[in-house]
Amino acid sequence: MIFIEKLSMENVSSTYYSGTQRLAVLEDVSLHVGEGEFVSVLGPSGSGKTTILKIAAGLLKPDRGRILINGKDITGAPQLVGYMPQQDLLFPWKTLKQNAALPLLAVKTGKREAYRRVEEMLPVFGLEGFADYYPVQLSGGMRQRAALLRTMLVESNLMLLDEPFAALDALTRESMQDWLLDIWRRFRRSVLFVTHSIDEAIYLSDRICVISERPGKNALEQVIELPRPRTKAMMVTKEFTLYKQLFINALAS
Ligand SMILES: Nc1ncnc2c1ncn2[C@@H]1O[C@H](COP(=O)(O)OP(=O)(O)OP(=O)(O)O)[C@@H](O)[C@H]1O
Ligand SMILES: [Mg+2]
Repeated sequence: MIFIEKLSMENVSSTYYSGTQRLAVLEDVSLHVGEGEFVSVLGPSGSGKTTILKIAAGLLKPDRGRILINGKDITGAPQLVGYMPQQDLLFPWKTLKQNAALPLLAVKTGKREAYRRVEEMLPVFGLEGFADYYPVQLSGGMRQRAALLRTMLVESNLMLLDEPFAALDALTRESMQDWLLDIWRRFRRSVLFVTHSIDEAIYLSDRICVISERPGKNALEQVIELPRPRTKAMMVTKEFTLYKQLFINALAS
């Protein structure tokens, strides 16, 4: 199999400055997402995971290192990628349909066509019949799916997802994971997924990059060789437990 790079982050270091304070956040971090690959970034709180995604989307310029998307250097230049920030940012004054259509409207798709494409996707996202609901009228899981739908409608097959399920209860989270895998497979996206959850990362990913405590550095990179499609029954297998132990150790060291 030929490994085609979708996203490549090379030797990235990043510092935040606030007033006279200087905070080194990332130190020489490299990571790659191949075409169609599902890669997770696992790391403790404050280790710089969100910063990695912002840099990958070109929203933040690192001090050192570079970012390539489809082989092109985009370091510090905002890109049209499916970036879903850590908080689901649906506009409360817009309906589900209006929120989801934003990426299409942003690239000058006509309103009627944009809404048609949103409507067409609603059943896939379990949101059929809710086009005209406002975010406050949706459940937490529905809001996350609406935000993911909006992310999917960005015309890029690279998705950067920042802890999209963190705020959900355990049961909803589990069904959202299966649903995300289904979407990923069906629409052949390349995904960089940030999570705190070891189980979630193993369950979803082809490969996992562990980032150390701040300043975040590459601590471990591990391919997950569980077969696909993944099933919840795999989570109690010996292979799964071995991976889990590996990540627990990597995060503790
Ligand atoms: N805009 C900013 N200005 C100054 N410091 C920032 C800024 N954004 C983040 N930081 C700091 O950078 C560090 C890394 O933040 P980041 O949000 O990347 O971590 P994270 O790994 O995503 O954490 P979490 O798992 O809690 O979401 C934190 O110490 C945070 O306080
Ligand atoms: Mg974060």
